Amino acid sequence: MRNLFWLMAGMLMLAAARAEAAPETVVSPSGALRFTLDTDPDGRPVWSLAREGGAVVNPSRLGFILGDAPKLERNFEIVEVARHSADSRWEQPWGERRFVTDRHNELVVTLREKTPLKRLLRLRVRLFDDGLGFRIEFPQQPNLTTARIVEELTEFDLAQPGTAWWIPGGEWNRYEYLYNRTPIEGVGQAHTPITFRTDAGLHLSIHEAALVDYAGMWLRRVEGQRFKARLSPSGTGPSVVRDLPFATPWRVMLVAPDAAKLYAASDIILNLNEPSKLPDIGTWFRPHKYVGVWWEMHLETASWATGPKLGATTANTRRYIDFAAANGFRSVLVEGWNPGWDGDWFATGHDFDFTRPTPYFDLQGLSSYARGKGVRIMGHHETAGNIRVYEAQLGAALDLYQRLGVDSVKTGYVADAGGILAPDGSYQWHDGQVMSRHHLKVVEEAAKRRIAVNPHEPIKDTGLRRTWPNWVAREGARGMEYNAWGNPKNPPAHEVNLIFTRMLSGPMDYTPGILSLTGKGGAPIPSTMARQLALYVLLYSPIQMAADLPENYARHPGPFRFIKDVPADWEQTEMLAGEVGAFALIARKDRHSRDWYVGGGTDESPREAELPLAFLDKGRRYEAQIYADGPTADYRTEGRADIAITKRIVTSADRIPIRMGAGGGVAIRFRAL
Ligand code: NOJ
Repeated sequence: MRNLFWLMAGMLMLAAARAEAAPETVVSPSGALRFTLDTDPDGRPVWSLAREGGAVVNPSRLGFILGDAPKLERNFEIVEVARHSADSRWEQPWGERRFVTDRHNELVVTLREKTPLKRLLRLRVRLFDDGLGFRIEFPQQPNLTTARIVEELTEFDLAQPGTAWWIPGGEWNRYEYLYNRTPIEGVGQAHTPITFRTDAGLHLSIHEAALVDYAGMWLRRVEGQRFKARLSPSGTGPSVVRDLPFATPWRVMLVAPDAAKLYAASDIILNLNEPSKLPDIGTWFRPHKYVGVWWEMHLETASWATGPKLGATTANTRRYIDFAAANGFRSVLVEGWNPGWDGDWFATGHDFDFTRPTPYFDLQGLSSYARGKGVRIMGHHETAGNIRVYEAQLGAALDLYQRLGVDSVKTGYVADAGGILAPDGSYQWHDGQVMSRHHLKVVEEAAKRRIAVNPHEPIKDTGLRRTWPNWVAREGARGMEYNAWGNPKNPPAHEVNLIFTRMLSGPMDYTPGILSLTGKGGAPIPSTMARQLALYVLLYSPIQMAADLPENYARHPGPFRFIKDVPADWEQTEMLAGEVGAFALIARKDRHSRDWYVGGGTDESPREAELPLAFLDKGRRYEAQIYADGPTADYRTEGRADIAITKRIVTSADRIPIRMGAGGGVAIRFRAL
């Protein structure tokens, strides 16, 4: 009898507990995606995601391991739930498209520990029709004032088998790796964005948004298809130290039925960032193209170091300024203009001086010479990862540029991963909390002086250009420089892979346009001529370099015409067709005219297609200026320079046959008549 009583009481308690722990769900505006938050029997928060009823992410954990307090991981109960929705449209000062739609449903769940500490976490989820973002907020509370986060336990347990495109996370060469294409089960530790295609054809990408004062997230495959966040380490203890209240970056998953829709879904990353803090940016930054004293150093025909090969001389820079003025380029980058490059500069960066030029470079005279011709000098701050030296000079260095009208700066952090020397003397990672703070400090200081910033060897892009639109581009992947000296160079698949991985995160300063089709020592680069032009459309950046030497452009006036014409600011962008890692055809409409442009690129396989022109404005006639691979164009042979430039009149009702050679591409300007 007594036993029966306890059994019945136990059953009642279980029922009560289950009622209390009912999962919370939110569906996306069209109903396509469903997000669920539940707690497991031990009170661990677990999330899952379904699309049209099918599992996309199996129940996956959330939580944190702290360095000085019990972990935040179990014994939670849901104590408060709120829901909101948004349907708005906002205008970008510059970008792949002028207007961005933000349509989502939001679920906010407050979780409280059932233990005496009663610590609180709040999960905020935004569910769009093509993906989601969620972040954990740490509200102000008595029993947790500073979070020392050693590990974040966020998991993504992918439900369907498939293929992954990824680069290793936590390796010495930062983000500069060729993409691996493996079964999902073959991923090790990866950087984000990482892209997946399930065997059923669903396209997914995991990344993050608004990485502010926090460590970058790598993804480590734990077992099967279960991935866990791993925070970039710190040289001084926990990966993240934050006083409460604060929120983690958004953990983002894009979910799309095909590759083209995956590309479009990346607007979610911008939507999850705060609106612009620079409402007047349009008055002082306009997207543009630039040239520079740059490729010759990568070819080793010139040097950054002073001496007979110095590239940054007054005479050489004047040559570039004249070239820019004659061909409509807005800026001239000059690397090696300042002291610090002599000797083994990338070993320490101790000797860099950002406040004065070398005796061979008339900074003041060149700035005014350039301005007289409607051109600007683009500044350069290579730090070699020594942010202790850089931050000490930052204000004065930017003041100098402001005084001279230098309104953009390329920064650089050449150092192996883990080799950033911080102001406190510690060594840090390029994507740790220290660098997330550093980059924003540079961007904010630059914004005060109306200067745009373009870091190389950067922290990854997480959409902060929405909040700080003077953070105009960055590197953060293998760029064109690998075609000068890389071993291997960038194979054709690399640029196509970038479109569906790295480029989902934001603009890249890839520096295209090498019409000589040769790198160091005259070694051929794995590209056709038409493909070099297509890159201006395929790899978006609001600052696009015409990276080759002026004399090489003089040798190829036909293709050079396209580089002069193509804009760097777009009203609209549409991927017309594409397959991850195979090919892409992208159409973009100029933001300042009625012209459209198309860029196409393929991997090592030649491809033919009929391009429907339905994207063109209805009822308008265009002159299509087509820069296509010629019949012998092939990245492996002398035929790589074979380009066919033709013209025809078209309307949106027409179709154009397209043929891309191996490693080739196509570039088209549709000039509105
Ligand atoms: C690496 C950058 O990616 C490259 O563009 C630059 O020329 C060198 N560092 C020197 O700063």
